[in-house]
Amino acid sequence: MKKTVNIAIDGPAGAGKSTVARRVAAALGYLYVDTGALYRTVGLNALRLGLAPGNPDEVVPTLKDLQVSLRFIDGEQRVFLDEEDVSEAIRQNEVSMAASAVSAIPEVRAFLFDLQRNIAANNDCLMDGRDIGTVVLPDAQIKIFLTASAEARADRRFKELTEKGQVVEYEALLREIRERDYNDSHRAIAPLKQADDAVLVDTTELGLEEVVATILAIVKERLA
Ligand code: DC
Repeated sequence: MKKTVNIAIDGPAGAGKSTVARRVAAALGYLYVDTGALYRTVGLNALRLGLAPGNPDEVVPTLKDLQVSLRFIDGEQRVFLDEEDVSEAIRQNEVSMAASAVSAIPEVRAFLFDLQRNIAANNDCLMDGRDIGTVVLPDAQIKIFLTASAEARADRRFKELTEKGQVVEYEALLREIRERDYNDSHRAIAPLKQADDAVLVDTTELGLEEVVATILAIVKERLA
């Protein structure tokens, strides 16, 4: 079987990973895989069942009956909880914290691992998340660690949610971003951290076009 090209993009919440990754993947003709959607779906399910997303005793038993899948429709990822397309429902702000909480549970990470690995084994893809370059695809040909200051990330998130008509407070978003950074980088299993062989791209002072161009240049150089 032909070896696929895998590009890993990791980084903290709100660094612009999904926007950038979608653009870079489109330019390369690769599949864009947003792994945060998987954790969000497990988090959404926990919230709907009225469970505490951070409590393994409550969340782990739900995994045996849970079906989470990704489908690519016209190249666009949709995420399914059983047969329900939850791609929009998982974007609600309260699902973010639930996703971060369930993602610290080792059984949840194990549950989602093969799904991610299989997609990468079968498709040239650009996968974004927190542990793609370190754990899920340690052999990815290209690894990028995308980051930005917490303030810049809260600012972007504020604009994004406000544009969608959600009512949010900047200070609360900044607090949540800091809390998620802390949770995601201090959990015992697969914490958010830059892989030794990842290229650091700090987007605090960069516009979208500049970030996309920077990453495409890195990809071109590595694949030459
Ligand atoms: O990228 P996102 O904000 O949609 O991710 C939601 C949460 O899922 C994030 O707080 C941490 C977790 N996550 C993870 O632990 N590992 C990944 N590869 C992707 C996301």
